[in-house]
Amino acid sequence: MKRIVEIQQDYFFDAENANKYLKDAKNASNSRFSNFLSSLKKLNIKGKYLEIGCGPGILTQTIALQHPNVEIIANDISPEMIKLAQQDLSKDLKKRIKYKVGDACDINSLKDLGKFDLIYSTFTLHHWDNAELAIKNLYSTLNDNGILYIHDLKRVLFLYYIRKQNGFFNSIRASYKPKEIKIILQKIGIKNYKIKTIFPFFMQSIMIRK
Ligand SMILES: C[S@@+](CC[C@H](N)C(=O)[O-])C[C@H]1O[C@@H](n2cnc3c(N)ncnc32)[C@H](O)[C@@H]1O
Repeated sequence: MKRIVEIQQDYFFDAENANKYLKDAKNASNSRFSNFLSSLKKLNIKGKYLEIGCGPGILTQTIALQHPNVEIIANDISPEMIKLAQQDLSKDLKKRIKYKVGDACDINSLKDLGKFDLIYSTFTLHHWDNAELAIKNLYSTLNDNGILYIHDLKRVLFLYYIRKQNGFFNSIRASYKPKEIKIILQKIGIKNYKIKTIFPFFMQSIMIRK
């Protein structure tokens, strides 16, 4: 069951694809993010947050509302996604949320942002060109004791072999198995981490503490 990447790297650079994603994400935001949001509430991390691959920014705004004392910088490699996120940003949250075009795999796009108490990312790990480099970059962007928290799909057998060519099944085939993530973390030298399968069974969370 090899990892297959059928998603084009520049898929979300296209305005139509970005708009379609925004529409789908708005309709499904409860089911997509409820698990992540409740875990985040329990962690109750204070300070500065960085969101990686924020897409149209739906999760960013929800987190800002649920954590009224935090400031969030949210980046995405796609200028179209950042445009949508900025258009959708409510006036009240403009002081606490800044959207920027940026690439997790490029340390130059991260180093001017400062250090963070929490760096999080949802449904993006399987999109990163070089996951090892991205995690290394993000780990170096954490404050001491900071947390890197990633939620993503998991490559599970019974979904992998459904040969449908749509976003969800392509993403399942492009996602990582927990043991592959462990190997990546070992290569970087990260020891303080937990990888958990979460509901629904084709999802996983990776929590790394610096
Ligand atoms: C499936 S969308 C997820 C968006 C959002 N996180 C969510 O959960 O709805 C994946 C996003 O990751 C972005 N992305 C892909 N590679 C990236 C990278 N190297 N750095 C930053 N963002 C990236 C894409 O442009 C896209 O907006």
